[in-house]
Amino acid sequence: MSNKTLAILKPDCVRKNLIGKVISHIQDSGFKVRAMKMVKLTPDAAKGFYEVHKERPFFNDLITYMTSGPCVPIALEKENAVEDFRKLIGTTDPKKADEGTIRKLYAENIQENIVHGSDSDENAAKEINHFFSRKEILEINGW
Ligand code: CMP
Repeated sequence: MSNKTLAILKPDCVRKNLIGKVISHIQDSGFKVRAMKMVKLTPDAAKGFYEVHKERPFFNDLITYMTSGPCVPIALEKENAVEDFRKLIGTTDPKKADEGTIRKLYAENIQENIVHGSDSDENAAKEINHFFSRKEILEINGW
């Protein structure tokens, strides 16, 4: 089991001025912020990140949404990070998410769902490396 996961506060989270509230919720749930930045994804970067969804009917809309403004990738640490973070954010569709989850509290719909969380330890490692250099992770945190 890895103790790392990647969160992305998506463009709707930034636009709605919810960065602070969502990070507080994450930290109050026991996650440590190990690296964080604000970036505006290019279409190529978004397509690379979401390559696994490229055959899905919502892919083009997803790329438009994820490139519509800045987002905030965050490398998080906690025991059982991937699973616990997915529980904390709730299901993809906020209408079906459990009460008290981040998506239930703040998300509009299945696309504009405020936050991303890695779905496996393997993807967490890949996704953290997608946004953070070795220097940013290693030199600050000794990861
Ligand atoms: P996430 O699970 O973080 O990563 C894939 C994203 O694609 C998902 O969040 C939503 O933003 C989007 N997505 C997933 N399913 C749908 C859908 N059925 N319709 C529109 N967008 C979707």
